[in-house]
Amino acid sequence: MSQQASVSIDPAFVVAPVNRRVFGSFVEHMGRCVYTGLYEPGHPTADEDGFRGDVLDLVRELGVTTIRYPGGNFVSGYRWEDGVGPVGERPTRLDPAWRSIETNAFGLNEFMTWATKADVEPMMAINLGTRGLQEAIDLLEYTNHPQGTTLSDLRIAHGAAEPHDIRMWCLGNEMDGPWQLGHKTASEYGRLAAETGRAMRQFDPTLELVACGSSSRAMPTFGAWEATVLEHTYDVVDFISAHAYYQLDGSDHASFLASSVDMDRFIDQVVATADHVGARLKSDRRINISFDEWNVWYQRELSSGGLPADWTEAPRTSEEAYTVLDAVVVGSLLITLLRHSDRVTAASQAQLVNTISSIRTEPNGPAWRQSIFHPFALMAKHSAGQVLDLRLDAPTLPTTKFGDVPLLDSVATYDADDGRVAVFVVNRHPSEPASLSTALGGFGGGELVEAVVIADDDLTAANTQDDPDRVTPQPHPSARVVDGVLRAELPPASWNMFLLRVGTLA
Ligand code: AHR
Repeated sequence: MSQQASVSIDPAFVVAPVNRRVFGSFVEHMGRCVYTGLYEPGHPTADEDGFRGDVLDLVRELGVTTIRYPGGNFVSGYRWEDGVGPVGERPTRLDPAWRSIETNAFGLNEFMTWATKADVEPMMAINLGTRGLQEAIDLLEYTNHPQGTTLSDLRIAHGAAEPHDIRMWCLGNEMDGPWQLGHKTASEYGRLAAETGRAMRQFDPTLELVACGSSSRAMPTFGAWEATVLEHTYDVVDFISAHAYYQLDGSDHASFLASSVDMDRFIDQVVATADHVGARLKSDRRINISFDEWNVWYQRELSSGGLPADWTEAPRTSEEAYTVLDAVVVGSLLITLLRHSDRVTAASQAQLVNTISSIRTEPNGPAWRQSIFHPFALMAKHSAGQVLDLRLDAPTLPTTKFGDVPLLDSVATYDADDGRVAVFVVNRHPSEPASLSTALGGFGGGELVEAVVIADDDLTAANTQDDPDRVTPQPHPSARVVDGVLRAELPPASWNMFLLRVGTLA
């Protein structure tokens, strides 16, 4: 029997405007994300730059807004100069982060050309692992200075006549992690990030800078790391980063479906820590969160014996085949990010193609949408206007990892210009449906425009090369608006979307 739950929404109660940057993604030189992912000269759909046209089409359909590049762990040993200039003269290097061979055939200018074609904003990460301040400002001069200096003229000589004008910069990657090349203590990193950020701001005070927060909430240094790093960088950066990956452990579906409870607590604790540092520094600035790595990730090859013994180009690393269950969890994580739009003002799903990805490809073969593609694409397309400060009245569900958690996870947006409301709801119960009701009286009533659900009797169903549309959103079987109330039966372990035109009684 269904449990009853209600979501209350009202146009007067708002969290923040929908920030398009929350629908960002991540391209790392890891596995086949770049090579045979977005870049494959000779592929039947490749354009004159070697970019796969089938992948570009899917990236546009996915609706991603920003792309973090080029790593990830990769960036902490990367020399950006290796990836510019004539391709035939670029060095081939070992990438110790992912134990692979990097040909550098794809680098900075290729990425910027690709980003323009994909219509996404770049978010560039700099190497603060094996390198530092000088290389960071050299890179900035190369990318952003118009002309007339050695490095800006070098960019022009490399075929990029206009400056790239990159606005968002990550000051390193996961520097709290012992696996990171050049891993540092919080004080060492905080000092380096502050010095580097200050130098970058001398170049351009309007840049938006991200300091590294914790690699996960489970890190032993979590909390203390953020506090120390922000004590050094509070006046210099705009964001502190957060990273989180989740996975199904055994058959504990309930805990997995409640993963966003952890993300929710993570966000609240980083906000509290940042505001505490701001209070101690008597600062009126507010540091927001760039949740610039998040996803479901099973890390199978990393946990079972490590990376491959042989050094190869573009190995098949972390090529997840995402299930229905994974899609529901990804939808729930995105709901949580959006619900925190007042403080999470940028986010990047990790990653875009092949590695931990929404999009999969085969070399010289097809590209297809993974199950997790769908909730992301629909939320990116239909979230508009203001994120509403909703109230949830729902029973709780016991979980082994997170204790009792609310049965539902939900967010709603309201676009007053269009008179549209979008409600996204996850039923976390692994085996029982839930009855949802949402009164639309505050909006002057409403009518249902579209309702879809991602759910399946087989929670392990996945999209594959041979069956690329096995998991797709389906028309919602039960959603309706009666007497100004949206009602729907939410299947067990489901992600649901309801699009409404409101004000219809006015
Ligand atoms: O996204 C995969 C890896 O996960 C990134 O390189 C690293 O930053 C994180 O640990």
